[in-house]
Amino acid sequence: MNINTFIKTDEKSYQINKDQPMIELRGVNKSYRTSSGDYPVLKGVDLQFQAGEFNSIVGKSGSGKTTLLNMITGIDRPTSGEVWVNGSPLHKMSEGQMAQWRGSNMGIVFQFFQLIPTLSILENILLAMDFSGKIPPADRKERALHLLDMVGLEDHAFKLPSALSGGQQQRVAIARALANDPPVLIADEPTGNLDSKTAEEVFSLFTNLAKQGKTIIIVTHDDSLAERTHRTASIADGVMVNISEANHKPIRESYNHKASNGPASIKSMVTN
Ligand SMILES: Nc1ncnc2c1ncn2[C@@H]1O[C@H](COP(=O)(O)OP(=O)(O)O)[C@@H](O)[C@H]1O
Ligand SMILES: [Mg+2]
Repeated sequence: MNINTFIKTDEKSYQINKDQPMIELRGVNKSYRTSSGDYPVLKGVDLQFQAGEFNSIVGKSGSGKTTLLNMITGIDRPTSGEVWVNGSPLHKMSEGQMAQWRGSNMGIVFQFFQLIPTLSILENILLAMDFSGKIPPADRKERALHLLDMVGLEDHAFKLPSALSGGQQQRVAIARALANDPPVLIADEPTGNLDSKTAEEVFSLFTNLAKQGKTIIIVTHDDSLAERTHRTASIADGVMVNISEANHKPIRESYNHKASNGPASIKSMVTN
């Protein structure tokens, strides 16, 4: 079937304003409270992603990638600074507003799928629709089946997640993330636990979704995948050190030289 039928992000239906970035972080700091005091993880992050782009975030383990994604999805809040997504100020929303907003605006794909083990594949997707209420009840089942068709799993709709392989479960997680047709799709190391062939299939799915107008951000350890996205943001020790566009053109050398340990250490930390 035509992927466009159920993935119809267009500027009108989401009031996407191309004059502003789809996602913008301004001076974002995030510290965690620990027994030994505040532990700074994100240090003055300024970042912009445009609508309809396929973006990647790379950086070593512990550099702050998941924390950064949690700022963008509103799963967690910055200690200071601003997070704007499609014109909405996430940093100003209440918990209730945030949950409602996230349900219809953000599709989230977790590294370990996080499907509910006691629900069928189909029910996992329907549950996401029930939470948000965005899709009319009469349309939900058909939409869920079409999403499973899109990821090639329509024959598995009534199985439990445990009956599926890791790659299949990840594709279900992507279908679930699309349940409410969000304009933005965020995935934390979505290919991290997959073999290279399955990883390639999942990556192609994201590429196609970007072509349909979704704004996509994936965290990845795989430089060869990152190089194939429109834009790659490199983070090192909570500092954004490099943004490069496709064709390997660095467009901004460093956002935050001052907050880092200096150019030499930046060079050693940046992967490309
Ligand atoms: N809830 C938390 N409380 C305290 N420290 C945390 C918490 N979450 C993450 N960290 C620490 O913050 C740093 C960045 O973590 P994370 O964003 O998960 O990095 P990455 O995803 O790049 O591996 C790590 O040192 C991690 O131990
Ligand atoms: Mg992480």
